[in-house]
Amino acid sequence: MHLPDGITSSDIILTGDRTTGPLHLGHYVGSLRNRVLLQEHCPQFLLLADAQALTDNMGNYLKVRDNVLQVALDYLAVGIDPQKSTIFIQSLVPELSELASYYLNLVTVARLERNPTIKDEIKMRGYERDIPAGFLTYPAAQAADITAFKATIVPVGADQIPMIEQTNEIVRRFNGSVERPVLVEARAVVPEAGARLPGIDGKAKMSKSLGNALPLSANPDEIRQAVKMMYTDPQHLRVDDPGQVEGNVVFTYLDVFEPDADLVEDLKARYRRGGLGDSVIKKHLEERLIALLEPIRRRREEYARDPAGVLGMLKAGTARAREVAAETLAEVKGAMGLNYY
Ligand code: TRP
Repeated sequence: MHLPDGITSSDIILTGDRTTGPLHLGHYVGSLRNRVLLQEHCPQFLLLADAQALTDNMGNYLKVRDNVLQVALDYLAVGIDPQKSTIFIQSLVPELSELASYYLNLVTVARLERNPTIKDEIKMRGYERDIPAGFLTYPAAQAADITAFKATIVPVGADQIPMIEQTNEIVRRFNGSVERPVLVEARAVVPEAGARLPGIDGKAKMSKSLGNALPLSANPDEIRQAVKMMYTDPQHLRVDDPGQVEGNVVFTYLDVFEPDADLVEDLKARYRRGGLGDSVIKKHLEERLIALLEPIRRRREEYARDPAGVLGMLKAGTARAREVAAETLAEVKGAMGLNYY
C-alpha cells in the first residue's frame, strides 16, 4: 500500500484539533479524510486539544468543553475508528502538562515571541503586550503533545509548521542536555495544494469564524443554501456570456469533489465559451456534496443519540494515551535523574 508523503507503517502519527467548534468541509478535505486512510497503516493518536483551546478562551470555557463531544462526533462520523485510532482528551492527560513544564526550561521568551504562528495569533487577537502566559508558551505544550507519543509524523495545516520546528528544537536541546536520544523529532506533513478548500465566499480559507464554512453536519437544505450563495464569476451575468473558471469557487469545489475529471474539464470549457449557466454547475456540485455529506450527517446523528457511548469511547482512548504519555514522562524524568526511589 502506497502511503502519501513517504509515510511508512513504522511511523507514529499524532495530530489534533482545538475544540472551539464543530469541524467543517475544509477540515474534511485538508485532514480528516487522510486520517481515515492513515489509521489503516500506522498507530495514530488524535488529540482533542481542549487545554490548548483554553489558552485563549478562558472566557469561553463552556464552549471549549462542549465542543469536545462535537469534534469527537465529527471524527466518528467521517469514519475515524476508535479501535484503530486513539482519540483522547488533552486535559485528562496531566502527564502532558508535566512534560511541558520541563520543556519550558528549554525555550526562551524571546524565541516564543518570534514563533511566527504565535506572532500572527497575537496580532489577530489584538493582545499587544497583554498576552496570556499560557498562550505565549503553548508551543512548549504542543511539543509535549507530540513528543509524549514519540510521534514521527504530525499532519497539520501549513500555519502549524513553526510549531513542529520549535518542537524539534526542544527535542534536540533535551536530548543534548541529557546526552541520550530520549525524545524523537517529528516531521510536519501539510495538505497538498489541492486539498486547501476556499470558503464558499471565495476567501482563501474556510473558517467557521469567517462565516464561510459548510459544517459536516449540514443537511441537504443547508448544502443547497450554501451552494446557492457560492461565489462564481461576478461578470457572468447572462448564461450566454463567457464565464471565468479561475477563482470560481464552484469549479474549485468540482475539482475536489467530482471524481470524473473529464466531465469537469468539459464543464469548464463550456462555461468559458459561454452558454453554461451558474445554476447548472451549482446543481452538479450540490449533488456531489449531498452524496458525500449525507452519510456523514446520518452517522453523526446516530452517534449523537448516544453521548454516553461516545464519552465511554473517549475515556478508553484517554486511558490508552495516558499510559503511553506516562511511559515517556518516566523516561524523561529518569534521564534527568529525577528517579529518586
Ligand atoms: N495547534 C493545533 C491547531 O490549532 C492543534 C494542536 C494541539 C495540535 N496540539 C497539537 C496539532 C499537536 C498537532 C499536534 O490546529
